[in-house]
Amino acid sequence: MAEAVTHSQTDKPTFYITTPIYYPNDKLHIGHSYTTVAADAVARYKRLRGYDVMFLTGTDEHGQKIQLRAQEAGKPVMEFLDEIIAWIRDLWDRLDISYDDFIRTTEPRHTKVVEEIFERLIDQGDIYLGDYEGWYCTPCESFWAERELVDGKCPDCGREVKFVKEQSYFFRMSKYVDRLLEYYEQHPDFIQPESRKNEMINNFIKPGLQDLCVSRTSFDWGIHVRRDPKHVVYVWLDALTNYITAIGYGSDDPALRAKFERYWPADVHFIGKEIVRFHVIYWPIILMALGLPLPKKVYGHGFLLMKDGKMSKSKGNVIDPKLLIERYGSDAIRYFLLREIPFGQDGVFTPEALVERLNFDLANDLGNLIHRTAAMLHRFCGGEVPAPAAREAVDQALVDLALSAVPDMEAHMEELQFSLALQDIWRVIRAANKYIDDTAPWALNREGNRDRLGTVMYTLCEVIRIITILLQPFLPRATQRVFEQYNLTPEETAWETLREFGVIRPGRNVAEGEPLFPRLDVAEEIKALEALTGARAGAQTTAAEAQASAGQAKSEAAPAADSGDQVVAAAAPERANPADHGAPAPAEGAEHKPQITIDTFSQVELRVGQIREAERIPKADKLLKLQIDLGDEIRQVVSGIAQYYEPEQLIGQKVVVVTNLKPVKLRGVQSNGMILAASQDGHLRLVTVPEDMPNGAVVK
Ligand code: MSP
Repeated sequence: MAEAVTHSQTDKPTFYITTPIYYPNDKLHIGHSYTTVAADAVARYKRLRGYDVMFLTGTDEHGQKIQLRAQEAGKPVMEFLDEIIAWIRDLWDRLDISYDDFIRTTEPRHTKVVEEIFERLIDQGDIYLGDYEGWYCTPCESFWAERELVDGKCPDCGREVKFVKEQSYFFRMSKYVDRLLEYYEQHPDFIQPESRKNEMINNFIKPGLQDLCVSRTSFDWGIHVRRDPKHVVYVWLDALTNYITAIGYGSDDPALRAKFERYWPADVHFIGKEIVRFHVIYWPIILMALGLPLPKKVYGHGFLLMKDGKMSKSKGNVIDPKLLIERYGSDAIRYFLLREIPFGQDGVFTPEALVERLNFDLANDLGNLIHRTAAMLHRFCGGEVPAPAAREAVDQALVDLALSAVPDMEAHMEELQFSLALQDIWRVIRAANKYIDDTAPWALNREGNRDRLGTVMYTLCEVIRIITILLQPFLPRATQRVFEQYNLTPEETAWETLREFGVIRPGRNVAEGEPLFPRLDVAEEIKALEALTGARAGAQTTAAEAQASAGQAKSEAAPAADSGDQVVAAAAPERANPADHGAPAPAEGAEHKPQITIDTFSQVELRVGQIREAERIPKADKLLKLQIDLGDEIRQVVSGIAQYYEPEQLIGQKVVVVTNLKPVKLRGVQSNGMILAASQDGHLRLVTVPEDMPNGAVVK
């Protein structure tokens, strides 16, 4: 039962955030966890900022699909549901999801209110009885107009749809369209990201908003219409109202009604991009009909994709989040999801990317900083935080960076840009590691320079305090461990302390501690992850391939080299076989090359270039002649990519160019460099660069 508002909560500002309610027709996969992890990071952040947060999640338990799945499992529907709900709640516990309430649409607090709402809307004339004819997708529980079908199939999932004709209740949507558009105009931030708003207006509202079918008679697992019980409330009206029934709307209990008044309207609904339509068109209209205020924001995030596209049971490419959590821990998975995929965009899950993030960011950057500092405190300062002496320029620079990261991170959290918020924190972590190298505390200790040593070690402890406070929404476990290890009190770790430097009182003990995150063996983990994800064992999938096969562009550059990614040259003139001019260097099964030093690598000049022109070379079916803008010059490069790209596809692409290769002639055409591409199994994709990187920028 939902809790009523207690007195102590009432003087805080409120923040109400929701996830979609998940279909418990099956276990959830890592894609579902993505929304919930993102919402949890916001809920935790807002609590830390002093808000009285209401974080709601739950399950959408009605509909034909659920009924069918229970039948298949040979169980009564409720028994089937209870088992999956227990599994889902256990998943959220393991992922440290700090939800305040979990609504099940089969609970009386929901069903009773939906029944009443339905009656009221019929009485008001917003819902009327009519005949339904149309195309229905059972897995998506969606009706589609003929013109919306793609090749006669469901435009969302691509599966078969069936023609149905039955008597149904309809919601008179058209009545509210003008008010809806007015709301969009007056609340420019209502639909996020912005691009989704135009999609809604152009695809659904402008062509004429159809009345929505809100009841079905062909199955009975649902909430029955009171006055006409052969009708079951069609699942979206049932599902969407969870956001108000969970917090007490329509309750007979005055305390719960007060709760509703306190938290509604929601500050943000987090949802995946494919259900934006329901949340920004139908849901606001239902609320208007009920005379209720509309939510402040609906954020439609992108999809987490596998290298062969969307996750789906039939493709056998779903990852069980529990297996990932078991292997890497919940913090690592939370971090990966929020760091790797810019919120709002699609992103690809690859084993390589996961292992890199964990090794580089968590084990190397963060883990090392915490561990090295504690170890040095033990070696040089008797395990205590020393008192600082006067700051020098190098100390002040780190102090300034740490303090300025705080408002940057806060601004990015307000914009729900988790990846950027994490980057703000990582800038400080990396600078702090460099500061250790630059100030060399071991040398200060050897020289007996206690004042400098004290300042350096104290500065490091303060920086660790600051970044740990900031990291709490993302890494709830690791941050608690650091607070304990560094003996930090709640007063020293409150958000308000982030405005000042020098909060820790010197003299406290710090435990030497264990490394926060283990460093993983790349090859071993990739093998294990491929087994978990059902990918081909031993296949080295590049991030570029994954994005290409998922048909999605990623906004960040491909991860750095030692991932096992095979980044090969798309025109390697000096290595080209005379019979195969300009073809990509062989990637398949390529053996590893001997190690080189950074000096050797730095002899290669790599720059960002933008392809301005591309044309075929007569009688050379593998070659394209490219004119590439390097900022201060246009370079001609001949590239062996003609079998993979049409010339016109390349115009405007930002690529990585090797600019200091000796010129060569290929089929009589001069080539003054080459461009990088990833290739495997006869599949090739250029290594591209985000658009905002200027032409000529150095790649290193
Ligand atoms: N029951 C409806 C939502 C009703 S909300 C009033 C539903 N359920 S769902 O279980 O199919 O999906 C729940 C959420 O998971 C959706 O927001 C969907 O976008 C999200 N995701 C499902 N697969 C996903 C990925 N692969 N990646 C990211 N999010 C994904 O729709």
